[in-house]
Amino acid sequence: MHIRRTVVILLVNLYIVFVNSSRPELDTLVKRGVPGLESPKKLWWAKELTPDLHVAGRLTERQLMYAADGGFNSIVSLYHYTESKRFGAEYLPDTKEAETIARIAGLRHVTLLDEGDKDWASIEAVDRLTAVIPTLKPPVLLHCNRAYTITFVTLMYMANATRFDPEFEPKIDSDKFYRFTAIMGTDFTMSFTREVVAEITGEDEVERPIKPNADPYEWYDYWPAHPVYKNWYTAGQIRKGHLPILEHVNFTVINMRLGVSTDGKPTKEMVTLRNVRDDTPTYDSNGNVYRQSPKSLAESVIAPRDNRYISSESEVNYESTNRGEFGDEEGFNEDLERAAFDSTCLKYIHLPIASDGPFTREIFEKYKETFLEAGRRGPVLVHCAVGKRGGFFAVLAAALQYGKDMDWALKRIAELGFEVSPQKHSDVYKLFSAYLNSKNVKEEL
Ligand SMILES: *[C@@H]1O[C@H](CO)[C@@H](O)[C@H](O)[C@H]1NC(C)=O
Ligand SMILES: *[C@@H]1O[C@H](CO)[C@@H](O)[C@H](O)[C@H]1NC(C)=O
Repeated sequence: MHIRRTVVILLVNLYIVFVNSSRPELDTLVKRGVPGLESPKKLWWAKELTPDLHVAGRLTERQLMYAADGGFNSIVSLYHYTESKRFGAEYLPDTKEAETIARIAGLRHVTLLDEGDKDWASIEAVDRLTAVIPTLKPPVLLHCNRAYTITFVTLMYMANATRFDPEFEPKIDSDKFYRFTAIMGTDFTMSFTREVVAEITGEDEVERPIKPNADPYEWYDYWPAHPVYKNWYTAGQIRKGHLPILEHVNFTVINMRLGVSTDGKPTKEMVTLRNVRDDTPTYDSNGNVYRQSPKSLAESVIAPRDNRYISSESEVNYESTNRGEFGDEEGFNEDLERAAFDSTCLKYIHLPIASDGPFTREIFEKYKETFLEAGRRGPVLVHCAVGKRGGFFAVLAAALQYGKDMDWALKRIAELGFEVSPQKHSDVYKLFSAYLNSKNVKEEL
């Protein structure tokens, strides 16, 4: 009896040791969560540096509102913008307009550099962030134009804090800095940035730091994307206004969200709506429109906000449709997305799968050749609602295209914020191990 119990305990311990040792070492600073705090569907484009500090490119009005909806408390704009601009066809407010929007949304808004100051790779910018961070209520969303320069400034603030404050977490040195920025697809290996890194960390200048492998360089212009490997990228729901930029990069776009109907049943997924929770279903149990009905909308508001949160003419404080996201009166309408792509020269492919899978070998076999062919053509953006389904398939497709193994795939998906292990998303774990080699994995299943 006793011996048996001892054996069981021993086996459990061995198992724990095994599971921990098989967990990949990540190039992120912390184990990342699913992107987007409390609202991955609204904020999938926010890049997590730490749970309290996320970075982004220049924000639209909607993105500022969504930041509030999803749990951010503060916004930091690196630059002072005196002029509005466009991101594709989306309007980008100037700093004054952004301050007004942030006020309506209940967000603190801070601008770091003075008007006309474009010198981002500077000790001065790091100094200013060091002074401002303690005054901000986290989590903080920091942005610049393309999520590039603000990544540098924020990580340098952390490197300086690591150097001067023994309590500071998570710690970052030059090695971690170059590994992390490489997996984010951002290249700071130029000599002027290497000099600043050396000065801030107090370490020797790294002569040949690891470089990102994201390709092509134009991906920076579509900053919301998450680089996976070389030509593979993921995204959540893209907007109609993004299409001109997707054209500029010349992505092949694979959409994995469900279409208008599946096997004769209506299957429109949800669209994101200002001041409306993300978790209400599109249809009720009888198949009637539920999410976008006035009753459900009124019951699903996130906070008692001003009607101006929706627009200056709105009579309610919640939104009921989202055309910019290919939404109709019911939900996400894939036909609208396809039609929008038809008027561009982009290649658009619809390979639907439900958000909770199952992610089986059978379904991947059906899509595999299409994925690999897209990969051979050039840059591929695999999108769904938050980048999870897309992430699973893009990581596997990239692994197959470039001969990567199971350990690489598990590391890469974890760095994107999704855990795949024998315990978590075990169907994806099985799917990966059916195609990818690893010493331990096959026996374990
Ligand atoms: C580095 O941190 C110290 C201590 O907090 C601070 O006084 C200094 O201004 C920081 N340096 C930079 C470049 O931000
Ligand atoms: C865009 O990519 C397609 C392949 O998907 C290729 O045939 C086409 O030449 C590319 N266009 C440009 C302008 O590079």
